[in-house]
Amino acid sequence: MILIVDEMHPSIFGMLEEAGLAYDYRPAIKRDELLSIVAQYTGLIIRSKTTIDTEFLHHAPQLKFIGRAGAGLDLIDLDAVAQRNIQVFAANEGNRDAVAEHAVGMLLCLFNHLHTADREVRTGLWKREKNRGIELMGKTVGIIGYGNNGRATAKRLSAFGVRVLVYDKYLENYTDQYSTEATLAHIQAEADILSFHIPLTDETNQWLNTETIAQFAKPFFLVNVARGELVNLSAVLSALQTGKIRGACLDVLENEKLNKLSNAQQHIYQQLFELPNVVFSPHIAGWTFESYERINRVLVDKIQAQ
Ligand code: 3PG
Repeated sequence: MILIVDEMHPSIFGMLEEAGLAYDYRPAIKRDELLSIVAQYTGLIIRSKTTIDTEFLHHAPQLKFIGRAGAGLDLIDLDAVAQRNIQVFAANEGNRDAVAEHAVGMLLCLFNHLHTADREVRTGLWKREKNRGIELMGKTVGIIGYGNNGRATAKRLSAFGVRVLVYDKYLENYTDQYSTEATLAHIQAEADILSFHIPLTDETNQWLNTETIAQFAKPFFLVNVARGELVNLSAVLSALQTGKIRGACLDVLENEKLNKLSNAQQHIYQQLFELPNVVFSPHIAGWTFESYERINRVLVDKIQAQ
């Protein structure tokens, strides 16, 4: 029996039934209640509200698999789960195209000042010179992480006449028709645009910081559609102020509960919100109507194939 603890596109019910998998759908369940009932389930389907830690696993003695209806596994203690031989299925293939389109969309928005020009026109301002754009064509993009999202993004960017350099610490021989494998140093020497497509782990937390920013030879544009914690926002703000970072597309932030920011975060966010060369969106890069359903298909197929 599977317990679904997050809101899911209703297509999942038919898919699970067709696969002969029984489920309980409890999208509004809170952690206390979840811990009190999870012992009876062998499968769990989650999105991003449920942290799977040793406390949780202690309450789930029968658990055989966790299905993540999305890509990020950062809320799951993967070591503890592996020790218990619990399988983890993710649905990265389900939202990679949404993420890639969103990353390109944010860049085009930033490069063509669409976010600020739109506001100006609505208030009667018609400023053409101020809003002269920058082209993607001819730029060098450095993609960090060449899994589902990185590949889908490289594929789209390559169509713009962009040179795509990719670095993935865990892959070998991954040059393809869309991109060229590169070292990190090569990317830092050549990139005009840096885009993150890696998971959040202890190793990647604060990947972009004062030191790594300084290692880039040229001022560059930053795209983060992965996880907010990959970048040190204070360092990014300083680099935006000095011009070392020319602009940023941020779909994710280290704290996405905007009404629960620490004082330090409030100070940083406020300054970022005032910068016209930063485009924000509320963690919706993978959040399309199409991906909402496709995630279910990918996940149920993986669960069924186990
Ligand atoms: C993901 O990891 O797939 C995205 O960050 C979205 O996750 P969510 O829609 O489950 O919050």
